[in-house]
Amino acid sequence: MREEEWNELQRNLEATIPVYDKINRFATLGQVSRWRRMVRRMIPEGRVLEIGCGPGSFAEDLTGRDLVCLDPIPEMLKTAEIRVNEARSSRGESPADFVEGTAENLPFGENSFDAVCTLFSFRDWFDKRLGLEETLRVLKPGAPLVIIEPAKINSIHGFLGHVWMKYWVAAYARIVCGVKDHPWKWLTKTYLEFGTTREYIEMLKQVGFVDVRSKLIFPGMATIWDAKAP
Ligand SMILES: C[S@@+](CC[C@H](N)C(=O)[O-])C[C@H]1O[C@@H](n2cnc3c(N)ncnc32)[C@H](O)[C@@H]1O
Repeated sequence: MREEEWNELQRNLEATIPVYDKINRFATLGQVSRWRRMVRRMIPEGRVLEIGCGPGSFAEDLTGRDLVCLDPIPEMLKTAEIRVNEARSSRGESPADFVEGTAENLPFGENSFDAVCTLFSFRDWFDKRLGLEETLRVLKPGAPLVIIEPAKINSIHGFLGHVWMKYWVAAYARIVCGVKDHPWKWLTKTYLEFGTTREYIEMLKQVGFVDVRSKLIFPGMATIWDAKAP
């Protein structure tokens, strides 16, 4: 993704904050909470990094971990910090840390995390290979990376997913946002440009991850990849 495109995407993502959870629930037919629970179960205890935390929709319910949330959009971090740390404090947990940055240039030392996860963000990374290299650098040996994203099995699957997002989800987003030029249009664009499940399996292996696996959770909407640092 070119830099101007990524900047435009960030502006559009920021505009989704007030309606993010509502539209996400609709777009996934209410399945998103179940997928988030699946990812939570895959994350071991210890120090965990969520890359692209957005408004904190996943991080809010990640209990019993020492959590660091990273996102390039300050407004996302502000929203997430209030939401996540209120939930953590109500459970008697220590606050999570919120750090501005990108996957491609992680502001952490080597071997700093027991797990890294990224939910509905990998698609937006402007240099996915570099982001995965950085992720590997900050993971401790043997620690897992979990990614969830709507990948395509093949071009037919990709076409059907595109039709779903472009017409059905976009119509709903237009109604909820009350404007014709709603920011969800950009999510359709990033879906179109995103590769197939197999491409990212190969990329994870080339970068140096081991035990690379993928699982289709819901056709057109959610695939989970998991891999380990060697
Ligand atoms: C759709 S939100 C996902 C929010 C949350 N993870 C969830 O489960 O709903 C995607 C987030 O990824 C962030 N993002 C985009 N490009 C990124 C990059 N290169 N590195 C890290 N985060 C990025 C965006 O700023 C946005 O907040």
